Amino acid sequence: MIRPLSVALAGLGNVGVGVLTLLAQNADVVAAHAGRPVLVTAVSARDRSRDRGISLAGLRWYDDAVALATDPGADVVVEAIGGADGPARAVVEAALAAGKPVVTANKALLAVHGAALARQAEQRGVTLAFEAAVAGGIPVIKALREGLAGNHITRVAGIFNGTCNYILTVMRERGREFGEVLAEAQQLGYAEADPSFDVDGIDAAHKLAILAALAFGRPVALDQVFVEGIRQVSALDIALAGDLGYRIKLLGIARATEAGIETRVHPCMVPQAAPIARVDGVFNAVVAEGDFVGQVMLEGRGAGAGPTASAVVADLIDIARGRLTPVWGVGSRDLSSLPSVPMEAHIGAYYLRLMVVDRPGTIADVTAVLRDQGISLESMLQRGRSPGEAVPVVLVTHETREAAMNAALVRIAALAVVLEKPMLIRIESA
Ligand SMILES: NC(=O)c1ccc[n+]([C@@H]2O[C@H](COP(=O)([O-])OP(=O)(O)OC[C@H]3O[C@@H](n4cnc5c(N)ncnc54)[C@H](OP(=O)(O)O)[C@@H]3O)[C@@H](O)[C@H]2O)c1
Repeated sequence: MIRPLSVALAGLGNVGVGVLTLLAQNADVVAAHAGRPVLVTAVSARDRSRDRGISLAGLRWYDDAVALATDPGADVVVEAIGGADGPARAVVEAALAAGKPVVTANKALLAVHGAALARQAEQRGVTLAFEAAVAGGIPVIKALREGLAGNHITRVAGIFNGTCNYILTVMRERGREFGEVLAEAQQLGYAEADPSFDVDGIDAAHKLAILAALAFGRPVALDQVFVEGIRQVSALDIALAGDLGYRIKLLGIARATEAGIETRVHPCMVPQAAPIARVDGVFNAVVAEGDFVGQVMLEGRGAGAGPTASAVVADLIDIARGRLTPVWGVGSRDLSSLPSVPMEAHIGAYYLRLMVVDRPGTIADVTAVLRDQGISLESMLQRGRSPGEAVPVVLVTHETREAAMNAALVRIAALAVVLEKPMLIRIESA
């Protein structure tokens, strides 16, 4: 009889219980793929008395998750606690130090400490696996690291935050404002009581930083990611985007340019016909572009107990089979030192929406500023007419440099005919 893979599981929340449930319900298919049974034998959480809707009978219980990480009977440690530091980091470091492979769903930990943890794993010759950390059930880590390994990746982009995608979808479908939809999402449990991690783009930035490291074989660099969330997107902008043939999505984009790697998270206008524009609700999607494969898109559920457990268990099966892949796809000696490109150097087209006084000469004042910055216009849209009053005007630019656009914005905002802070949304081809 082949010895089972014995798993120590730290954290019994959504993800931890999901993993226990999957391993119990799908024990046969998991054992067949792993070549042996995969069994959780030890667990840790804060509150031993909490009813988690699943039996923990026969499992070794640890109040101290770090002690669990060095359980002599455990072959592998799953970290499902969360947080960039604190107990999650301590558990992962202790397990790696003990020479045990680790599976984690923790994007914050990897985005902040991924470089050091990867070195530690490499020194000990063990796996640090994290399929669940990005886009939940979508196997994007494997796709980039293994499936597309023969390509030069030129771009990775995606919808990485289901909460933001849900809010933007409902705003579009029902013509409602951000604040109302957020409050409703919080009532439905789709958004946290403190939503800033999601709606300010931080969660998406963590995931993008991880994907950029994998795609471009370079150390994870969260502090280089430009981040802008969705709070300022209005129902008006979503409707105007529709009139122009676009949808507004919060995208994370990592792109190789001649100057280096650009990494950014911000609301984007994407053409309605682009496949990613039609990924709605809580769904996530990732688009990767490689020099030989062309464009690949993966779509699915980015969160939830089931999809996340699916990803964690895939990593456990790899470990059971003895498959060992470097954390970032290449060994730390082979990581590239490609520089990061600052946002000011970004080149793209822009949607600029202004609330202006409807009177002759207004547009001429605005376009004069754009002309001075060398920015040319592709189109202009004015909705309705009410002489002497405020009307929205949209200007769509040709490709220009972000620095020029920022300089123009400062001058446009100061014009007497411009009544509100201008709204700027970057246009992305797909
Ligand atoms: N939820 C998702 O859909 C999802 C998707 C992808 C990735 N993730 C990631 O997965 C991780 C876990 O998320 P989650 O949603 O499962 O979180 P959760 O429901 O809040 O569960 C966290 C668990 O950690 C336990 N815990 C907290 N501090 C601990 C400590 N010091 N020692 C031992 N256990 C401790 C908690 O114990 P008690 O239950 O006793 O309080 C709880 O069981 C996070 O990194 C998250 O970003 C989650």
